[in-house]
Amino acid sequence: MRIGDVVVDPPLVLGPMAGTTNRVYRLLCRRGGAGLVYSEMVSINAIVHDSDRTLRMLRTFEGERPVSIQLFGSEPEIMADAVSAVEEAGADIIDINMGCSVSKVRRNDAGVALMGRPERAAAVTAAAASVSAVPVTVKIRAGLVAGDDGYVALARRLRDAGAAAVAIHARTASAGFGGWADWRHIARLVEALDVPVIGNGDVAGPADAPRMMRETGCAAVMIARGAWGRPWVFGQAAAAVRGEPIPPDPSPAQRLGIALLHAQMLARDCEERIAIHEMRAQMHHYVRGLPNARSFRGRVNRVSTLDDLRRLVESHVADLSAEDEADGAVCEGTTCRRGRNET
Ligand SMILES: Cc1cc2nc3c(=O)[nH]c(=O)nc-3n(C[C@H](O)[C@H](O)[C@H](O)COP(=O)(O)O)c2cc1C
Repeated sequence: MRIGDVVVDPPLVLGPMAGTTNRVYRLLCRRGGAGLVYSEMVSINAIVHDSDRTLRMLRTFEGERPVSIQLFGSEPEIMADAVSAVEEAGADIIDINMGCSVSKVRRNDAGVALMGRPERAAAVTAAAASVSAVPVTVKIRAGLVAGDDGYVALARRLRDAGAAAVAIHARTASAGFGGWADWRHIARLVEALDVPVIGNGDVAGPADAPRMMRETGCAAVMIARGAWGRPWVFGQAAAAVRGEPIPPDPSPAQRLGIALLHAQMLARDCEERIAIHEMRAQMHHYVRGLPNARSFRGRVNRVSTLDDLRRLVESHVADLSAEDEADGAVCEGTTCRRGRNET
């Protein structure tokens, strides 16, 4: 897939997630095989007010490129002012959030509120596209409520305003994250637009990616929650899209090693205290499906330094290896008694 001059290969995209897709996790996902990574949403008002915290959110690593920085806001002039700061930060693409329904965003007429104001949505898109040297894209939902198919006309209008691609989370705004994404909305958008459509919603594992492409004709697949604690999922999905066998998940020890690397990189990138706080949630994801995950999660919640976390991970890996050996001994008999996975 190409978005303007930006080549996205493989056509697998890490979706924006507040609290997760900082530059460290984006780099891990690029290394894990993603073709494009999105930042979490960043407020244009905070950018133009030079908020330190916000400017830190704009930082990128060279190795994660191509990277899309996602913005939210509803004032065309402020959007135009924010663009240069985002370009300077190294964005290859600027995305405008029109799908977020959390109240602090919606209250400011931004996020999904823009879908209810097509005129304003087009003005915000045009404001960014007219000053941006990099492609501008939008991320929308499949309408505000069930049966509202205005998203198709809106997407056409945004394209006319300068959007170089459209990502669609195939749920309505009122559905939040409930029920299932209805991929037919993605297919409808593909039919209606002559710019790339990125399909999103409920790609839970690698095999779902080629299925979404087949069923909808989308140019690329965006994975958000399915990449939690699994930066390698993109390489697996890329193999599936190429029609090759899906590589196995890394071993439990390798998974925990990647989790620890994630923590170390984050601790170098921000304050250790903040990194550990963020990593607690991420560690919960990394151990999903591993033996003794529940007790690990209980202990990780009490960790307060990187050293504590390293010791915890090392002792968990040692426990897992000891169990493997014990299970191996049992398996040498006639019956294998493994299968104590917790989720
Ligand atoms: C914790 C969390 C944070 C999110 N933050 C953003 C965000 O900043 N911007 C955005 O456009 N979507 C955001 N999303 C929505 C995801 O990008 C995606 O559209 C949604 O989770 C559906 O895709 P999935 O089924 O692959 O998770 C967020 C979702 C979650 C779960």
